[in-house]
Amino acid sequence: MLRQSRRAVDALLVLLVHGHMGNSPGSEEAMSIEDIARKVSDRYAKAVKTGEQICCPTNYDMTTMRSFIPEEVLKVSYGCGTPAGLKTVSAGETVLDIGSGGGIDSFEAARLVGPSGQVIGIDMTDAMLDIARRNAPSVTANLGYASLNVEFRKGLADALPVQDNTIDLIISNCVINLAPDKRRVFAEMFRVTKPGGRFTISDIATDQTVPQYLVHDSGKWGDCLSGALTLSEYMAGMVEAGFLGIHVIKSSPWRIIDGIQFFSITLTGYKLFEQTTNSAVQYATLCGPFSRVVDERGMTYHRGIPQPIKSDSAVLLSLSSLAPHFVLSIDPLWLNRDDARWSAVFPAEKPCVWMGHFALLAGPFLEVADDDYHVYSRGTPLEICSKTLQVLETESYAPHFVCLNRAGQPVSGESVSCSPDGGCC
Ligand SMILES: C[S@@+](CC[C@H](N)C(=O)[O-])C[C@H]1O[C@@H](n2cnc3c(N)ncnc32)[C@H](O)[C@@H]1O
Repeated sequence: MLRQSRRAVDALLVLLVHGHMGNSPGSEEAMSIEDIARKVSDRYAKAVKTGEQICCPTNYDMTTMRSFIPEEVLKVSYGCGTPAGLKTVSAGETVLDIGSGGGIDSFEAARLVGPSGQVIGIDMTDAMLDIARRNAPSVTANLGYASLNVEFRKGLADALPVQDNTIDLIISNCVINLAPDKRRVFAEMFRVTKPGGRFTISDIATDQTVPQYLVHDSGKWGDCLSGALTLSEYMAGMVEAGFLGIHVIKSSPWRIIDGIQFFSITLTGYKLFEQTTNSAVQYATLCGPFSRVVDERGMTYHRGIPQPIKSDSAVLLSLSSLAPHFVLSIDPLWLNRDDARWSAVFPAEKPCVWMGHFALLAGPFLEVADDDYHVYSRGTPLEICSKTLQVLETESYAPHFVCLNRAGQPVSGESVSCSPDGGCC
């Protein structure tokens, strides 16, 4: 799995260094990583001057934002989510905003960490840094803080000007897709995060690999298209860097280009403490709703059956996104269907209808099985019928899936019976 993920992220990198970028028809010029960064930077510097709107709808609480952030900053908000606004930031924390732009999320984080916290925004584009730096004193005054708790540094996402193990929370809004060397960005994120720290980032991802003709279209890098990773590559790259408990906490469709779905995701993950002492926990029993799951360390759990675990697995399974699925115990503990902790969601007893829906497992597990013979791998689209869609939209399944519709034309919606016993497809 890790080898696969490395290949996926490598593929993008190698391609960019050695590939022909086709800057103009017939051009044989190869574009380097530096060229891509420069073009992206020029694009954002130009947008600041022209007032061009780039990227995607966000969902800020504008009444709150306008109450303390100057209009000049709000005008250059180019994000695709609200990573600082999702109850992810706590008072007193040190927050790093990668690709801080005009500073909108850094300023929201500065409000949420309070005067005892600290925020560092990093960006490579002078025009963006100028806006953020110019407005920081007004934000501080509007918040009523005695001194600045936010600073903006010039730097690249793949060479962060930040000390090792110093950051509680990394946020980033629509930036990493623009960085040519994602593997280095993920490694840098891991380096600067404190053990026990985490990231919450919004970005653009796809349901399938962006083809070469788009990757090599230098103009589309700044549009958040050419550099987008598939959801599965994105999460695998984070695991490769060392983060765990990775899952999508929010997603929304953005654009469909040549059949490729680009969607905005907000993703979170953790740098766990190294486990030095043995935990008292010896067993983990999966409660459901999945009948089987594989965690990011490759350990398989079957619902109701106690699985012996080591202390590092106990730490992983205790994360807030995984804990509700397990009973951790000192002695083996079986759960049967009568136990209130055992859970399952069965499909309705009716024929299936194929409407073009696909489901992508959003984590934090690498693989899960439901009660209808479907096996979902993280980030990989699996075609599902309407009956299965209903199951995945239930309260217990919904947080674990990104569902999208790939049908580019009307479908008849005729029902089918998929298996001899009438089971679901
Ligand atoms: C789409 S804008 C988003 C800005 C800001 N996060 C927001 O939500 O408004 C991307 C920003 O990331 C910066 N950026 C892009 N690639 C970068 C890189 N490799 N290193 C540092 N900054 C980068 C650009 O200069 C730009 O300010």
